[in-house]
Amino acid sequence: MYLLEFGGEDDAFAACEAASAATGIRRIAPGLAVAGGLVPERVRGLAYTRRASDLLGRGDADLASARAVLEAASIDREGTVAVRATDVHGSSGVSTERAERELGQVLVDRGFAVDLDDPDHLLRVAFSEGVLAADSGTDALEHEERAEGEESAGERVSACALGWLAAESVRDFGTRAPTDKPFFQPGSMDPLLARAVANVAGARPGAAILDPMCGTGGVLVEAGLVGADVIGTDAQAKMAAGAQENLGHFLERDEPSPTGVSRGSWHVGRGDATQLPLADDAVDGVVFDAPYGRQSKIETHRLEDLVSGALAEAHRVAPRAVVIADRSWHSEARAAGWEVAATFERRVHRSLTRYVMVLERRTA
Ligand SMILES: C[S@@+](CC[C@H](N)C(=O)[O-])C[C@H]1O[C@@H](n2cnc3c(N)ncnc32)[C@H](O)[C@@H]1O
Repeated sequence: MYLLEFGGEDDAFAACEAASAATGIRRIAPGLAVAGGLVPERVRGLAYTRRASDLLGRGDADLASARAVLEAASIDREGTVAVRATDVHGSSGVSTERAERELGQVLVDRGFAVDLDDPDHLLRVAFSEGVLAADSGTDALEHEERAEGEESAGERVSACALGWLAAESVRDFGTRAPTDKPFFQPGSMDPLLARAVANVAGARPGAAILDPMCGTGGVLVEAGLVGADVIGTDAQAKMAAGAQENLGHFLERDEPSPTGVSRGSWHVGRGDATQLPLADDAVDGVVFDAPYGRQSKIETHRLEDLVSGALAEAHRVAPRAVVIADRSWHSEARAAGWEVAATFERRVHRSLTRYVMVLERRTA
């Protein structure tokens, strides 16, 4: 079992993204989840998961409970250790300094030497208390069978979880702020959200990801940095040229990406999302960020027709899609043959909520 530590405000969305790197995910407390299986290299490319650890044990959100878990755990490791504790959103009131000191002492008593600067093994200890928020969508994760005594949404929980650090995500998103890219336009997607939706769509080495309304190429850059081969179209020549500039800048480098994989190939051209120049089933996943009426110029279509047409084309070329928009397009998605697997609402600022719809091809 693994412990996942989420970042950000929306655990259900973080869990949905983490499913691209882990299996059998169950949220156990605000900011925390456990998973049955894990691909550590993929954790490096997650936006809303900070760390994954080999779970040692779980208890309540207090130091005595954490001590008891650590004293009872079987530890099959050798070498030096250090302890890092966190109190998720300051919810439990546990002193993390004291937790690190006391739990470090438990490890010393068990024969380990401490090395705070460069330990062979880092023990993560997370405390969290609060209500396990219900998912905002029809998230498949919620429908998993739960063993007796396990947490369910809406329940008040108090948890500590201890685990040996196995993988951390690379926090370099600040280096790709939209305004710092070679080509910038208002409405460009924040790289954290762009990475998350790329992952949810299936971005990984060997996968092909399409953004048919790619704008400045924000999603495609993030998909390419986790190793996917990316394809983009945009109706505006200026956007297609700008996306080419950004993709060339971030993906055309010989060295591996910061997440440790080879950067994906890229192809971007001017095109209409409702008439894609691609064969059926040409890609593994589609992501698009529909125009926001006045923000983005809509070429030749009414917004409804554009979104419906793009949904139909996405359904023709891929088994999975993620659509980001300023309203929910559920009925249009269903009419195009999609099943709405999950929907998340993300508040961008006071007057703008973005809906993230995760779509899967309906199976007959
Ligand atoms: C909200 S923006 C996408 C922003 C993008 N995710 C980014 O990070 O820069 C929507 C884009 O859809 C494009 N667009 C509008 N109508 C289109 C159509 N029929 N086919 C393809 N692209 C279209 C616009 O030119 C605009 O660049």
